[in-house]
Amino acid sequence: MAGAGPAEGAAADVLVVFGITGDLARVMTFRSLYRLERRGVLDCPVVGVAVEDWSVDQLVARARESIIGTGEPLDEEVFARLAARFSYVGGDFTEPSTYERVGRAIAGKELPVYYLEVPPGLFATVVGHLAEAGLAGNARFVIEKPFGHDAQSAQQLAADLHEHVDESQLFRIDHYLGKMGLEEILHLRFANQMLWPLWNRDHVDHVQITMAESFGVEDRGHFYDPVGALRDVVQNHLMQVVAATAMEPPSRGDVRSLKEAKVGLYHAMVEADPAHYVRGQYDGYRSIEGVAPDSTTETFAALRLEIQNWRWEGVPFLIRAGKRLPVSQTEVRLVFKQVPYLGMLPRDRRPERNELVVRFDPSTGVRMVVDARRADVAGPAPIELDMRFADEGGEGPTPYEVLLAAAMRGDSTRFTRQDGVEETWRVMQPLLDAAPPVQPYAPGTWGPAAADEIAADVGGWRSPWLPG
Ligand code: BG6
Repeated sequence: MAGAGPAEGAAADVLVVFGITGDLARVMTFRSLYRLERRGVLDCPVVGVAVEDWSVDQLVARARESIIGTGEPLDEEVFARLAARFSYVGGDFTEPSTYERVGRAIAGKELPVYYLEVPPGLFATVVGHLAEAGLAGNARFVIEKPFGHDAQSAQQLAADLHEHVDESQLFRIDHYLGKMGLEEILHLRFANQMLWPLWNRDHVDHVQITMAESFGVEDRGHFYDPVGALRDVVQNHLMQVVAATAMEPPSRGDVRSLKEAKVGLYHAMVEADPAHYVRGQYDGYRSIEGVAPDSTTETFAALRLEIQNWRWEGVPFLIRAGKRLPVSQTEVRLVFKQVPYLGMLPRDRRPERNELVVRFDPSTGVRMVVDARRADVAGPAPIELDMRFADEGGEGPTPYEVLLAAAMRGDSTRFTRQDGVEETWRVMQPLLDAAPPVQPYAPGTWGPAAADEIAADVGGWRSPWLPG
């Protein structure tokens, strides 16, 4: 293993993007770099590396069309500044000579960030070659999920990478951590006297997390079919949401304390029980290009998790995620316990349970559902108190902008650490080992009917808070 890598907080002086001709760069990276340039946050050269034999002009042309393609308005002056940062190295990722050329392209630079937009099977190859070329010692490596496809392969991937670099050099992207995330939810939870005393098993009946997408797998069949909903979004993105909702307050503000607190929560999670797991597949999925005609991959997953600790014992965490659902919306919803008998109400009327919703997508906000008496309605009724972050000026940069900028300045707060990755796989593993049969559902519905059973004893799934 190489040295311990660059100091936390030291700024990078070059960004090297492996796989810059690929899809992720087209859809996300160029736009993020452009927006960072516009905000004056990007201040170093950008070297693209890929197998294609491109000139820098071709790279610039691709950058331009990619940014426009995302719908981002393009300011020529900003783009010219960005384009002036680009250089390009063509070469095979398995050839040492490619890394010699990379070395020449970044000569004199002291703290490179390597962004590996390559298939996970190539992570260790690229990192190993960079190490052999003497280019890895004082570098950071940004890598993209999937980090393994089960507990064992996640460990193997880390072992392969750790042969060449230290864990502190690895910045694993889970783009959910670039959304309104951990830090913001923790602040909301713990910095408000109105909230923190209620955030536990004494008051919370159960928690519902919904990640609904109205679109399908479309042109991602080759990627999606070997993966499925559980691996694609539950083991990573939604487990980040669970952590933010359920973890204890970190003892200090530093990165390590935050990560310890998060992993501490994962430690307390019980391995998921396949008896509370429903898998669905939308009708039509099997005719997508790249999908096996007899595929049993799930495009919908509903499950129930348990956290066995002082704060949460006995509070079910229900999760559902799927494609081709009626809406696109992601939220976490705390459903509180029912208030006791209230003599001033008719005998058969109980106030509705309070709810607190944090919405992540398509825009961020917080909603409280409280029972109230209103002059215009006959009896008491639940009302919604909404706060949309966009209205409060709190809607910030896109996730990839946040994460790239953080990797460049060496802030690993919003990146996942290997022990966290392994813990989330541990929780999911029984669902992979004993996956129940997949059940069909019609596009535009909330998954197979059996998903309702997951939430039957808590009064059913709540309809999500839709934008508007
Ligand atoms: C990706 C998954 O990680 O996250 C996709 O591979 C999913 O299947 C996407 O659609 C959702 O991200 P976002 O930010 O669009 O909610």
